[in-house]
Amino acid sequence: MPFVSESVSPLDQAGLNRLAEAALAAIAGAASPEELGQLRRLWTGEQSAIAQANKAIKTLPGADRAQAGKNMGAVKQRLSAAFEARRQALDEAAASDKLSREAVDVTLPTDRQPIGARHPLELLQERIADVFTALGWTIAEGPELEAEWFNFDALNFGPDHPARQMQDTFFVDPPGSGLVLRTHTSPVQARVLLSRGVPCYVAVPGKVFRTDELDATHTPVFHQVEGLAVDRGLTMADLRGTLDHLADQMFGRGVTTRLRPSFFPFTEPSAEMDLACFVCRGADPGCRTCGGSGWIEWGGCGMVDPAVLIACGVDPDEYQGFAFGMGIERTLMFQSGVGDMRDMVEGDARFSLNYGVEI
Ligand code: DAH
Repeated sequence: MPFVSESVSPLDQAGLNRLAEAALAAIAGAASPEELGQLRRLWTGEQSAIAQANKAIKTLPGADRAQAGKNMGAVKQRLSAAFEARRQALDEAAASDKLSREAVDVTLPTDRQPIGARHPLELLQERIADVFTALGWTIAEGPELEAEWFNFDALNFGPDHPARQMQDTFFVDPPGSGLVLRTHTSPVQARVLLSRGVPCYVAVPGKVFRTDELDATHTPVFHQVEGLAVDRGLTMADLRGTLDHLADQMFGRGVTTRLRPSFFPFTEPSAEMDLACFVCRGADPGCRTCGGSGWIEWGGCGMVDPAVLIACGVDPDEYQGFAFGMGIERTLMFQSGVGDMRDMVEGDARFSLNYGVEI
């Protein structure tokens, strides 16, 4: 470093100036407060030329001392102003560097959003599918836009069968297209029998459509789980045992069920499976949940009608089958006491969150 240790007389203005210029240049180049501290010791510390020149004042003849003192004062002031200015500049640079390093990008997407929840009807369908896979059944799907033939004809509904109207069907344009929005999951029975043959144990959860107005107990889009078992020697007892097992898994052990005679074109005999009312358990004739009957309808079932087996190429003398179609919304209502269907279809995340967040 030039001039640092070069001795200079306190009366040598030009020398002092050169010294000051060199010091100022070094100070201006200091890159950190530490380096600035070193420079301060170097240029103004005891060994420095400036300190030496200062000391030399008292060795001067009395007449020169005032001038020498003035000279030294001016140099020291320039230096200390330069040190101070550089210190400030470095402090400011450090502060703004810190600010920019710690800057928060307020436009970044935040993860503090409610994470939402899957719809309980979806979770329930998965859980039902799990119950059947645990029994060794397979899970199948079918199209929601379905051929009329599968939705009705294959299932033994004749062309003028009153049940076709009973089903409140959404027919699909143009008229005569032969397409409907499936009114039940039962058409998948025929699809599975035709494509996979027998023996067959299959469960089919899915959406179905009927021309109902949305109110507390109806919705035009709802869900069913279809079951179909076709094998040698199956009986109504197998049907009952399977549905009781599903009821146990859905509602806990010991839930009371009953089979009540009914009619469906594709089963013979046919039945409805009812669950004992979870509100009054049959004890309140004025119960609004079960209408006082003590029972709530869960779904339809029966032994597969031989006509359906024949339509699907299965020999009814060799194979028997049972089938069922249970309401998923009813299952959820029964499980968790949801009283109003509209809560299930509105898509309000607060409803789903009650069932927990599950992936
Ligand atoms: N598909 C019928 C409905 O939606 C329910 C049903 C009844 C399904 C009897 C079946 C069955 O598989 O065997 O009303």
